[in-house]
Parts: sequence; structure tokens; C-alpha cells
Amino acid sequence: MKFLITAGPTREPLDAVRYLSNRSSGKMGYAIAAAALEEKHQVTLISGPVALADPLGAKVIRVTTGNEMFEAASAQIGACDVFVMCAAVCDYKPAHYSAGKMKKHDEPFALALEPTRDILASLTSVKHDCFVVGFAAETQDLAVNATRKLREKNCDLLVANDVSHADLGMESDENELMIFLPNDEPRKVARGKKTELARTLLKIILNARENCLTKKT
Ligand code: CTP
Repeated sequence: MKFLITAGPTREPLDAVRYLSNRSSGKMGYAIAAAALEEKHQVTLISGPVALADPLGAKVIRVTTGNEMFEAASAQIGACDVFVMCAAVCDYKPAHYSAGKMKKHDEPFALALEPTRDILASLTSVKHDCFVVGFAAETQDLAVNATRKLREKNCDLLVANDVSHADLGMESDENELMIFLPNDEPRKVARGKKTELARTLLKIILNARENCLTKKT
């Protein structure tokens, strides 16, 4: 089966030396890629800037900004069976880019930001044949927000994680997941190493896809 996976953060440049981004390490997305490769699936991995080695056997496309990630994903989505949007996309970008290094001043300074495109929602607003897995990073009201994102971003399955703990989720080697499906009770995948969780998640995704296909026929 062909997997398209996004991972890591995106960066939005402010000037020649500064950017806006987030703490995503890419570990969860890379672990999902590795789990799929272990099971002999084909993997295309679109990765934001991370300090991780390419998973052996994956086709890796490196990007920096949200626009680059969108362009790469839209070029690849038509050819995949499962699309996993695990990347932590920067929601805003500086309204103005300065080609040189901005100089500091003594006065307070407000940065004008504009929203970036929602990559997942944009891609799923057009009909594709692939099974779509979204992610949600939450610090509060996890179930309410995850259920809303599942619906609003047209996902077949949504993986939510609580990012309010310093030793879990973002940057950590461990995570704890809640899986949301359109017509099912949420399911918890207990805390564990991301490499292990990715193997469990892969099974859940393939199982849910199978059920989805069975319902359609
Ligand atoms: N996502 C995306 N493009 C964005 C923001 C998010 O494709 N500009 C995707 C993420 O990759 C993830 C899902 O949307 O699969 C949910 O991302 P999350 O950061 O949890 O939520 P947001 O939509 O950014 O909303 P909020 O920050 O308000 O929680």
C-alpha cells in the first residue's frame, strides 16, 4: 500500500535570520513512516525541518514553509492509499518578510501575522480516494476539539494527543493517543514509546480503512 506522511514543524521566515515555528520534533511522523516500511508498504515522507535521519527505504521530500508542504502534498496525494497529516503546521506567518536582518530598537514592537493555509482542510476539500488521517494537538477540551477537527477537516480518522505535559508528546520519545472515528467511541492508546505507538496506530489505520472500504461496497 502507498502511504503519504507529513512530519515535523513548518517554519515561516520573518527576516534573513529569524522564523516562526513550533516545538515539533517529527518523531511521531517518522515513527509512523518506519512502522509502515517495516510492514513493506511504500512511503513518501514530506518532512519539515527536523534533526532526524531519513527512514531507510522512504522517499523523503524536505520542505520548510507551509506553502512548500502544501505544494508537495498536493502533488503526491493523488497517488497514495493512506494520507497521514502528522505535521505541526505553523498557523501564522509574518505579514511582511524582510530580506535583510531586521535591526533592533528600544521601543516595543508588534509583529503583524497572517494565517497560513490549512493544508489538511484544503486537500480534503477536494475528493480523493485515499484514507485520510489527521492529527490534533490539544492542551484542553481534547475530545470536543478532536471531534470538531475530524468533521471540519474531512478526516476518516483523527489522532489526538494532549500536548500539555512536558514529558509527553511534542519533542518527547513517548506519547499517548486518543483515536477518533466518525461513527465510533474514542479509543485510547496508552502511553508508550512513539516507535511502539506507531506500530499500533498503523494497525488501527489499516483496520479502519478496511471497514471503510467494506461499507462503501
Ligand atoms: N493542519 C494543517 N494546516 C494547518 C494547521 C493544521 O494541515 N495550517 C493539520 C495538522 O497537520 C493536523 C490537523 O490539521 O493534522 C490539526 O492540527 P492542530 O494543530 O491540532 O489544529 P489547528 O487546525 O491548527 O487548530 P488549533 O491550533 O486552533 O488547535
